[in-house]
Amino acid sequence: MLKGKEIILGVTGGIAVYKAVELLRLLTKAGANVHVIMTRAATEFVAPLTFQTLSGRPVHTELFSLIQEQEIGHISLADRADLFVIAPATANFVGKVACGLADDLLTTAVMATKAPVLIAPAMNMNMYQNPIYRENEARLKKHGYLFVHPATGLLACGWEGEGKLPDPEVIFEEALAALTQKTLPEVRVVVSAGPTREAIDPVRYLSNHSSGKMGYAIAREAARRGAEVTLVTGPTALKVPAGVNVVRVESALEMRDAMLERAATSDIIIKAAAVADYRPRERFDQKVKKGDATLTLDLEKNPDILAELGSQKGERLLVGFAAETEALLENAEKKLREKNLDLVVANDVAAEGAGFHVDTNIVKFLYRDGRVEDLPLMSKDAVAAQILDRVEALYRTR
Ligand code: PMT
Repeated sequence: MLKGKEIILGVTGGIAVYKAVELLRLLTKAGANVHVIMTRAATEFVAPLTFQTLSGRPVHTELFSLIQEQEIGHISLADRADLFVIAPATANFVGKVACGLADDLLTTAVMATKAPVLIAPAMNMNMYQNPIYRENEARLKKHGYLFVHPATGLLACGWEGEGKLPDPEVIFEEALAALTQKTLPEVRVVVSAGPTREAIDPVRYLSNHSSGKMGYAIAREAARRGAEVTLVTGPTALKVPAGVNVVRVESALEMRDAMLERAATSDIIIKAAAVADYRPRERFDQKVKKGDATLTLDLEKNPDILAELGSQKGERLLVGFAAETEALLENAEKKLREKNLDLVVANDVAAEGAGFHVDTNIVKFLYRDGRVEDLPLMSKDAVAAQILDRVEALYRTR
C-alpha cells in the first residue's frame, strides 16, 4: 500500500528522535520513498547521516541552503508529498504551525503542502496539558491536521504521564490510515477472529491452529477505511490494531454471547474466527489425573454462531469464512445458503501458503448470485483489502 508513495518525515528536536529512525525503517521497508527534513534541534539528538543512510536520500535541514534548494527545493518537497509525518513533534513546532509561522525548512514545507499532515507530538506531560498547547492542537485539528495520540508512561524528564511518542508501529499504522480513503465512514463493523478454547479441566482445553492473523487484518483494514470496528477475538498473541475496539473471549459460548450482543448494533459482520464445533460435555473442576491407557471425552455440540446471526440478519451484511480440506466449493456454497450469508470467503486450509497461522492466504469468493471469484496467493493484509472492496460494493447496493 505504501509502495511508491512519497512521504516527508519531519523530525523535530526531542529525546524521542531515535524512534523516528525506526519509523523511517518501517516506511522504507513498506516501499515508500521517504524524504527526511530535520530541524536544527533534531540534529542534536541523532545525526542526519543515520536518516540519510536508512532513507537512501540526502537529509534536508536548511531553508536557505543553496545546494539543497537547487537540488529539490522546499516547495517541490511540499508538492511531491503524498503525506507528511512529523515525529516527534515538539510543542514549539505545533505552536508555530498553529500560528502560521514558517521560519525553517520544515514549517515552510508543512505550510506549503496540500498533502495530509500527521503529527505525533512528544513532550513533557505538563507541556502537553498546557492550555496554550491544547488550543494550538485543537486549532490545527480544526484545519484538518491529523494527530497521533501520545502514549502514557515514564517521560525522559522523569515525570510519569501522557506525552511519550508512541511506538513507531503505532505511528506507521496511523500513516497508513491517513493514506487510506475513508470509504466506510461511521459504518459499524464487527469482526471475529482467532480460535476458541473449550476447557477440559483447569489446565487443558480443545482448540485449533488459528492465529487470528486473518481476522485482525480485516479489522485493521476496516478501521483504516473509517469504520467503527469491534473485534471479538479468541486468545491470540497479536496486538489489537489501532482504533479498533476489542472484546476478548475464550470459548465458543462466550464468543456467541459477544457476537449476538454486538450484532444488534452493527451494519456489517465478518466472521473469520475458527470456532470449535464441539466442547467437552463436562468441565472437570480439578486437573484430570493420568489413569488408563485411553481416556474418552464426551463432547457436545457448540451453537453455530454464524447460522444464528444469519437467521436474524435483518438489513445487515453477513460474511462468513469456510475453512475446508476437501470439496472446497461445494462445502462453501452449502454454508452460504444454509447460514444465509451475503458472501463466503473459502480457503483450502490444506493448501501451502493458505489457512491457519501463515501470513498469506489463497481464497475464493462465493456470492449469492452464484458468482465465484478466484484470488491468487497473497498476504492476509491484501486478502483483507480484497474482502473489504467486495463488502463495500455489496453494502452500497444492498
Ligand atoms: O487465524 P488465522 O491463523 O489467520 O487463520 C485464518 C483462518 C483459517 C482461521 C480463516 O481464514 C478461516 O477460514 N476462518 C474460519 C474457520 C472456520 O471455523 O471455518 P468453518 O468452515 O468451520 O466455519 C464456517 C463459518 O462458520 C466461519 O465463518 C466460522 O466463524 C463460523 N462458525 C463455525 C462454527 C461455529 N460453531 N460457529 C460459527 O460461527
